[in-house]
Amino acid sequence: MQHLTIKQILKQAPVGDTLTVHGWVRTFRNEQFIALTDGSTRTHLQVVVDREATPPETLRLIHPGAAITATGKLVESLGRGQDVEIQADTITILGPSDPETYPIQPKRHTLEFLRKNGHLRFRTQTFGAVFRIRHHLALAIHRFFDERGFFYLHTPIITASDAEGAGEMFTVTALDLNQLPKDEQGRVNFKEDFFGKHTHLTVSGQLEAELGALALSKVYTFGPTFRAENSNTTRHLAEFWMIEPEMAFADLNDDMNLAEDMLKYLIRYVKDKAADDLEFLAQRQANEEKNLPQNERSIPLLEKLDNTLTEPFARITYTEAFDLLRNSKPNKKGRFKFPVSEWGIDLQSEHERYLVEKKFKKPVIVTDYPKDIKAFYMRLNDDSKTVAAMDILVPGVGELVGGSQREERYDLLVRRMEEMHIPVEEMQWYLDTRRFGTCPHAGFGLGFERLVQFVTGMANIRDVIPFPRFPGNAAF
Ligand code: 4AD
Ligand code: MG
Repeated sequence: MQHLTIKQILKQAPVGDTLTVHGWVRTFRNEQFIALTDGSTRTHLQVVVDREATPPETLRLIHPGAAITATGKLVESLGRGQDVEIQADTITILGPSDPETYPIQPKRHTLEFLRKNGHLRFRTQTFGAVFRIRHHLALAIHRFFDERGFFYLHTPIITASDAEGAGEMFTVTALDLNQLPKDEQGRVNFKEDFFGKHTHLTVSGQLEAELGALALSKVYTFGPTFRAENSNTTRHLAEFWMIEPEMAFADLNDDMNLAEDMLKYLIRYVKDKAADDLEFLAQRQANEEKNLPQNERSIPLLEKLDNTLTEPFARITYTEAFDLLRNSKPNKKGRFKFPVSEWGIDLQSEHERYLVEKKFKKPVIVTDYPKDIKAFYMRLNDDSKTVAAMDILVPGVGELVGGSQREERYDLLVRRMEEMHIPVEEMQWYLDTRRFGTCPHAGFGLGFERLVQFVTGMANIRDVIPFPRFPGNAAF
């Protein structure tokens, strides 16, 4: 049946019309006022129950969580908190809910409690707001690239290559795990497996995206990626979505400009599409943090997003970042868990957070990292010590983007691969791009969930993906 969503009703406000509305009861006040939500918007619609006209067996079933249909006239509301309300002539209970056992009560629940009830957390205002914003961001990403002439390329989810060379992969197999075929050395013989070789879930679509970029010039991927790293942190998932643009005829500067333009575009888009959800989440974050000492609180959400929009991102080299950190107060006072003493160390999240939250108070792009802490495909700089890499660090999250100019010179690439024990033989398809019409090119990877965290202010990455996967958890 055609009907208006609550979002449409509140927007059009056809006062005087008789409407039918569907939704779930959020609260039922004074046995008369239903706050009804259908997820289309954060704001609920007030449905006023006619106690005389409504049969007692229906009244008895109006509880938080119940699915109902209400029909009645839309009128201007005299009560505070809403402009219009429905004076219901009839109410139908589509799906009753048990008030004793329904986990989502009309009160504040901790995120941890809601994570344990992950199948129902969509019903809360917080998760409604987060997942609406997640949707807007996904769409905005496609729009951004389309407007700039990038083609959406689908890279494989099952692959035999380890794009990052870090070995944190989930094996994909159709072998009987109780009867594994073995080779002469007693190792599992993957030649007998479905694909005739050892395959994994992809950690990144970059290498395949490079093949596309060296023909279509500008491509991007947007798909799920998987990492079997045992990281139980608020910023890591075992299954997450990544956006990876790749551009031919582009250098590191073009790469940074693209990423900065993109983040600004996305924030502008969400502010335009979901201002009310953002305001709600800003308020939520302020409430969550109100008992923290001032210096431990986040930059207020809307202020943080506005800063990101209006300010140019800071751009510093790894070496500059290293010097800043080494001479910083927390380092001198021994407050970093990982002291900053020797050039070449990897930046830890405490260092990243110091740079963005204390030092610059806005996104920071760190470039030209030591080659030993970065992947094999990054372009070697003339100093032979650093590579043309860039990471974008943002308040509250740390590393949001990781990218680089790619090593387009065949000999140098092969040398790096050998140094880093990347199987050159198996990667001939990749090296062919450097043999036939190689050119300067660059790209980056944006972690989609970290982006949603940044925009919504949610502290834990498990709360910005509908069905989080992390060590010990694969519910649903
Ligand atoms: O820095 P990473 O590992 O870079 C790559 O995979 C490159 N191939 C990207 C490229 O140049 N095309 O990952 C990119 C981003 C990180 O900056 C982070 O935002 C996110 O992916 N990320 C994760 N997000 C959630 N959980 C994890 N375990 C993540 N690992 C990386
Ligand atoms: Mg990285």
